[in-house]
Amino acid sequence: MILDGKTLSLKIQENLKAVVHPLRRPPKLVVILVGEDPASLLYVEMKTKACKNVGISGELLKFPSDISQERLLDEIAVLNADMGVDGILVQLPLPEHIDTAVILESIDPTKDVDGFHPLNVGKIQCGVDGFSPATPLGVMALLDEYTIDVKGKNVAIIGASNIVGKPLFSLMLNAGATVSLCHILTQDIALYTKQADIVCVGVGKPNLITADMIKQDAVVIDIGINRLDSGVVVGDVDFEAVSKKASFITPVPGGVGPMTIASLLRNTLKAYYINNPKGDE
Ligand code: GUN
Repeated sequence: MILDGKTLSLKIQENLKAVVHPLRRPPKLVVILVGEDPASLLYVEMKTKACKNVGISGELLKFPSDISQERLLDEIAVLNADMGVDGILVQLPLPEHIDTAVILESIDPTKDVDGFHPLNVGKIQCGVDGFSPATPLGVMALLDEYTIDVKGKNVAIIGASNIVGKPLFSLMLNAGATVSLCHILTQDIALYTKQADIVCVGVGKPNLITADMIKQDAVVIDIGINRLDSGVVVGDVDFEAVSKKASFITPVPGGVGPMTIASLLRNTLKAYYINNPKGDE
């Protein structure tokens, strides 16, 4: 069975629209893009377009790739102080001369809709309320929609990035799963995936997960996104073969990707409420 992230994302966006519409002012997200990377530009445009779709004001601030770290920090300080800005997102990766950790730590944690500030990373790990990165949040929402309970399940996550693998590890663990987090140095990924009731993979390698690597009726979540030379977009899973063995599987595109967008919008509304505690509807 297909885990249809596209449809769920649209449903979430319809619900958000109804909540956002009566607010005294629209919630505002500012997205910062440094440089000209075409993939990053595509992503940030998708994010600001989705904002518009639900009535959130999405502003894109573009800076040249040679912007200094100091200037970028100044820009973020202005946004931190602006009561009319609810969410701030700095698209990654940043150019090499900029220290990503310094930039992420400069964002007001109450406006950190990406959940990349160490304070939010820590909160999510502790299982207390904070901003969770959008992709892992989207994965959990998709499983929840299909009433796939992770409590007591064996979960294998392939890919240990700060953006996906590590926060997904925390969310799964806090939801009661037993979690294996595999990474680039893991010698035998299949050892972990074969034991897993739920396999989540996001490393950017087409066909990394083949049918022989998963249990019969496993749930397979493909967080990978790869553009082949032919122009076709695929994930990290051999969908054709694995879908015959899995009980549930996400397609690429149309699985986790749209859920990331929906979760970012949810986080922006959450930031609005934090920054407008009197609930000025
Ligand atoms: N680059 C790749 N994924 C993401 C994301 O979720 N947020 C940001 N800010 N940059 C990214």
